[in-house]
Amino acid sequence: MRAASLLALVFAVCAAGAQPAQVEILAPYVQTPPEAVEAMLKLAGVAAGDVVYDLGSGDGRIVLAAARLPGVRAVGIELDAGRVRAAREAAAKAGLAARAEFRRQDFFEAHLGEATVVTLFLLADQNRKLRPKLWRELKAGARVVSYCFDMGPEWKPERVIESAGCRVYLWIAPGRAAPAG
Ligand SMILES: C[S@@+](CC[C@H](N)C(=O)[O-])C[C@H]1O[C@@H](n2cnc3c(N)ncnc32)[C@H](O)[C@@H]1O
Repeated sequence: MRAASLLALVFAVCAAGAQPAQVEILAPYVQTPPEAVEAMLKLAGVAAGDVVYDLGSGDGRIVLAAARLPGVRAVGIELDAGRVRAAREAAAKAGLAARAEFRRQDFFEAHLGEATVVTLFLLADQNRKLRPKLWRELKAGARVVSYCFDMGPEWKPERVIESAGCRVYLWIAPGRAAPAG
């Protein structure tokens, strides 16, 4: 079994076995493989003018990869203070601090209205709980990509590809008037 598949399996088992309170507060820390980071940004069609939010940004790899693209600004939202610190240091070291911002915050509390792209590598339960917030706050046409986990049957993906042993899903936000799911 490939490493990414094994991680996804561990992640899925965690999702199935975790108590709801644990699931809400903190997904286990598993990094998106570099190949999948590139695939997620490509699937979302990230380009100049985009503002990319990674919810649960970990070591900041998705935010930094997005901020390396010309004309793109990226924001990572992460609860773990140590990871936020490390991601800020990595951004400064890469000369990306002006375009890669990291906030220590619960992503359920973050306002997402300026995001044109949202990236996720979270538990299935968290994706589903986030769905109404994404619908409510994102402008019509904003893209949401998720590594390994979907959004439940109520929000069918626009496209699904495979990368590093997992599915990568793309949804297009219907706009702020859409019903909460
Ligand atoms: C599977 S890791 C993904 C890390 C990174 N996005 C990546 O793709 O490599 C999930 C991250 O979400 C963070 N997290 C979980 N629940 C959160 C919440 N409610 N608010 C902010 N961050 C959260 C965890 O601390 C962890 O770093």
